[in-house]
Parts: sequence; C-alpha cells; structure tokens
Amino acid sequence: MKRQYRVGILGATGAVGQRFVSLLARHPWFEPVSLMASGKSKGKPYPEACLWHLDDPIPEYCSRLTVEACLPAEGLDLVFSGLDAGVAGSIETDFASFGTPVISNARTHRLVKDVPLIVPEINSEHLSLIESQKKRLNSEGFIVTNPNCSTIILSLALAPLQAKFGLEDVVVTTLQALSGAGYPGPGAMDILDNIIPYIPGEEEKIQTEPLKIFGTLSGNSIVPKRMNISARCHRVQVTDGHLLSVSVRLKQRPKPEEMIAAWQDYTPGIAGLQLPSLPSRSIRYTCVDNRPQPRLDRDSGNGMTIWIGRLRSCNVLDYHFSVLGHNTIRGAAGGSILVAELLAARNLIAGRCPLE
Ligand SMILES: NC(=O)c1ccc[n+]([C@@H]2O[C@H](COP(=O)([O-])OP(=O)(O)OC[C@H]3O[C@@H](n4cnc5c(N)ncnc54)[C@H](OP(=O)(O)O)[C@@H]3O)[C@@H](O)[C@H]2O)c1
Repeated sequence: MKRQYRVGILGATGAVGQRFVSLLARHPWFEPVSLMASGKSKGKPYPEACLWHLDDPIPEYCSRLTVEACLPAEGLDLVFSGLDAGVAGSIETDFASFGTPVISNARTHRLVKDVPLIVPEINSEHLSLIESQKKRLNSEGFIVTNPNCSTIILSLALAPLQAKFGLEDVVVTTLQALSGAGYPGPGAMDILDNIIPYIPGEEEKIQTEPLKIFGTLSGNSIVPKRMNISARCHRVQVTDGHLLSVSVRLKQRPKPEEMIAAWQDYTPGIAGLQLPSLPSRSIRYTCVDNRPQPRLDRDSGNGMTIWIGRLRSCNVLDYHFSVLGHNTIRGAAGGSILVAELLAARNLIAGRCPLE
C-alpha cells in the first residue's frame, strides 16, 4: 500500500475537474475522496451529475462518490480547484482559512501579493510566499495558483531563453482549443467553420502573469520582471491543445542552434525530486516543418510536455517560433497536480501519511 494524501476536487464536474478526476485515478500519492460542485450537481452520484466527455472512461472510483457542496470539512489534506472564476474567490478562501491547502486554476487569486503563481519547473522558490499568506489568513491552509493555460505553455517555452539569453520583448498570437472555454463552450453555430478573435480577459492574463512568474523573490513579495508582452488570442475549433505563435527579442542574440540547444538541454531545478507528473522532458523541439500540431502532439509526455518548432529569424524582433501544449493537462489539472507533488516533496502539506 502506497502512502497517500486525501484530496478533494472543487468544480469536479467541469472540463478541468474531469481532468483532475481522470489523472488522480491512478496517482501514486493522492487519493481523491471528495468531489464537489454547484448546487445543481450536489447530492447526485458523480457519473449522473457530470456529462463525461474525456476519451478515457470515467474512473471506477467515481461511481462510489456523491457530489458534495463546496464546503470546508475535516479529512482533506489538500483540495484542487477547477472552479469557475466567478465563484472561486470566496470558496477557495474559505477552504484555506479553514486550514486546507488549495491549488487553484482560477484567475481570482493569481496576482495577490502573497499567493504563489507557480510553474514548478520555473519558479518553485516562490512557494516561500506561503508562510506570509498563512500568517495573513491565520491558518495552516493557503492558496497556490496555476497560471492561465496559455501563460503556462508560453512561460515554459520562454524559461530556457530567459535563463540563457535574457528576454526583452515577446509578441504572442494564440490559437486556443474549445475545451479552454469549459463545457459546453461556444455554441456550434458560433464556432463551426469559424475562428473567434476574442477570448474575454485572456490577453490581459498572458501579458501580466509571466511578469510575476519570472519575477524575483524579495522578502514577502515578488518584484515583477520588466519585459514587454503583447498578446492576441483566438478561439479555434480544436478540442484540446493550444498552439501559440511567438516572436521574441532577447538581450543577447544567439544563433538558431543555440536557441534549439537551450530548449533541448533544459533541465529544471526540480528534476531530482522524482515527482510522478514531471515528464522526462518538459520541452521538446521538432525540426519537422509542419509540426507541432494539436491532434498529433498534445498528448506527449502524458500531456505534460510542450512542443516547440518552426524556429526562424523574425524581421521585426529576433526570432519566431511555434509552441503547443495541452491546455487542460499541462495548462490546468496536470500542472496543478505537479504543484501539489512539489508541495508534498517540500513537506508543505501535512498528509495523513506524509511521504518520508
Ligand atoms: N478549461 C481550461 O483549459 C482551463 C485551463 C486553465 C484554467 N482554467 C480555469 O479553470 C476553472 C474551471 O474551468 P473549466 O473550463 O473547467 O470550467 P467549467 O467546465 O465551466 O466548470 C466549472 C466548474 O465550476 C462549478 N461551479 C460553477 N458554479 C459553481 C458554484 N456556484 N458553486 C460551486 N461550483 C460551481 C461547476 O459545477 P456544476 O457542473 O455543478 O455547475 C463546474 O464543476 C476556471 O476558473 C477556468 O478559467 C480552465
């Protein structure tokens, strides 16, 4: 019997929630024991409350669980949140104040001064903000946030470039999958045979969140990185996988082969921690002209690896390239589970049977 933490899922019936339900079914450390959602779902057996739409079958353990209201209770070592941003703020704060650590996918708390905004490969040191947050909440609970899905994918691609050459300006155009809008997402009449050049609030998130992620820890806060990011976002009729077209200006201009080597040789600082969801390669580069593509490349590394390709000189900035990542896995549930593994490895969550 493996040691396990008892975990809950807030918003377990939604697009991100279903990914949590699926990924945690076979997780070696975390045991999902509570599935929570809105009043509409409360009291129903999970398979009845949720319209399951993943390719993997609904996990067997779900048939034993009834959907509960999002109310804090004893017996949970941690909760993952896939809550709608409209309700996440107060519910997540209630759990953290009660004493339960929360890993959130909602935008609500991401830019709060003492709330870590974490991509584990990039800024695990920002977790030290938890201490001051716990003091503010007067609780053993706290909130750690996952960035926006496109922000995670973009930031991972930028991380080796920032480390080796320094980033100055970034221009990004996104082609974002339907599952990024949650279920049911845009109506068929709106998206079939179409591309929608507007995703509310998305451009602002992509332009601000990387500044905190690449920011410097100073005492109890993060000094944001100074860099210019310009983002344009589009919803396209792909089920899963966001494709980003990125141009960068760097402090030192490397040769193309040095750019590719920076991505291919990237070894994150957390590589030695043996975290179950960390893929063998967080970033891969392809030389194939027409890749990466959502349908062919999004499931790489169990959905946790991002693919970069099409590197070429840019006539305006220095370089141009494409990036692909799975939005509900790397960009949401899988990313949050990796954060939770990092918290466990750093002894920042108290499990009923903590890891050695
Ligand atoms: N989809 C992505 O790729 C992605 C990526 C990164 C971050 N995010 C963020 O993750 C969060 C979830 O996104 P999603 O795409 O999974 O949305 P979604 O499919 O619309 O799911 C929303 C979830 O919130 C629950 N909910 C809604 N109102 C509630 C209430 N008043 N009380 C309690 N629960 C309530 C829903 O439960 P019911 O079914 O009972 O209504 C459902 O479980 C959002 O904040 C989103 O911005 C999404």
